[in-house]
Amino acid sequence: MALTKGLKLVQRDAGGVDLAFRGDVLAGLAEPQKAIPARWFYDDAGSALFEDITQLPEYYPTRAETEILSSHSGEIAELIGKGWAVVEFGSGSSVKTPLLLSACQPSAYVPLDIAGDFLRASSATLAAKFPGLPVYPVEADFMRRVELPGEVADFPKLGFFPGSTIGNMIARTATDLLRSMRATLGEGALLLIGMDLVKDEEVLLAAYDDAAGVTARFNLNLALRINRELAGDIPLEKLRHEARWNDIFARIEMHLVATDNIAFTVSGTNFVMRKGESIHTENSHKFTKRSSQLLLAAGGWEPRARWTDEARQFSLVLAEAARPRSAP
Ligand code: AVJ
Repeated sequence: MALTKGLKLVQRDAGGVDLAFRGDVLAGLAEPQKAIPARWFYDDAGSALFEDITQLPEYYPTRAETEILSSHSGEIAELIGKGWAVVEFGSGSSVKTPLLLSACQPSAYVPLDIAGDFLRASSATLAAKFPGLPVYPVEADFMRRVELPGEVADFPKLGFFPGSTIGNMIARTATDLLRSMRATLGEGALLLIGMDLVKDEEVLLAAYDDAAGVTARFNLNLALRINRELAGDIPLEKLRHEARWNDIFARIEMHLVATDNIAFTVSGTNFVMRKGESIHTENSHKFTKRSSQLLLAAGGWEPRARWTDEARQFSLVLAEAARPRSAP
């Protein structure tokens, strides 16, 4: 396994505060609709809570996508062919990544992630599972074009972006990301991307507000993290988790709603919330067949094939890097 450079992507002040986290939180809490980017959910506690979410009876996406990868692996492998360098956007899950790698017999595996420790740990686990496969982890922010290791320069590239993580982004950011992926992977690349589907509102709301309260804890953990890392005193007992369906944008939103008028401090800055006011903490966009095709096309990818699970809850789309052209 190749070693990653000791590149430090997280910038901290003298007190160890993550400057990007503080910047996002202070700016987001100053907005008329308070909002904090969903990427800050994933500290150690948040990552563990997300793992628990994937096991919940109400949370279907992980099971549905895994079902697609295992039940259609033959067809997926046949369409893609062998010998690709699989470039995964994110560190890789312990279940889905092995399913893809055993199906399509790639020539190399390149996981990209901004969280270096997590990246190295999951790369090592994966390399142990696939002894003959060269693994080249790259610590990078994949929202921008990433320079891939020279070792994979001559292989065709297959991007892998499971989990419907694309759904966390508003359309404009999602298109930017798809275009960056295209720039990273280059001409002739393929992209295998998971996109969650629009379905009954009750099913969606339950998936993001489970009976056991795990998603509520996941959401509230963000406020806990702010208190701990940014010297905050947000009264957690006066915030409640809420999942909402926004029909205009076809997305589930998660909010932390104030159950009382509250005042608090974060990093020396004062904030107030009126009773009923919320902090918007996540978007999870849901797609139809057409809306997924349109989003991919806008990002420079032409859909080639598409699979769903038996219950048609989730989709996996294979797309090809579009050639630049001006004529219809
Ligand atoms: C990891 C972004 C795909 O939106 O379904 C799960 C995160 N949030 N429950 C999703 C999440 C609340 C998840 N993604």
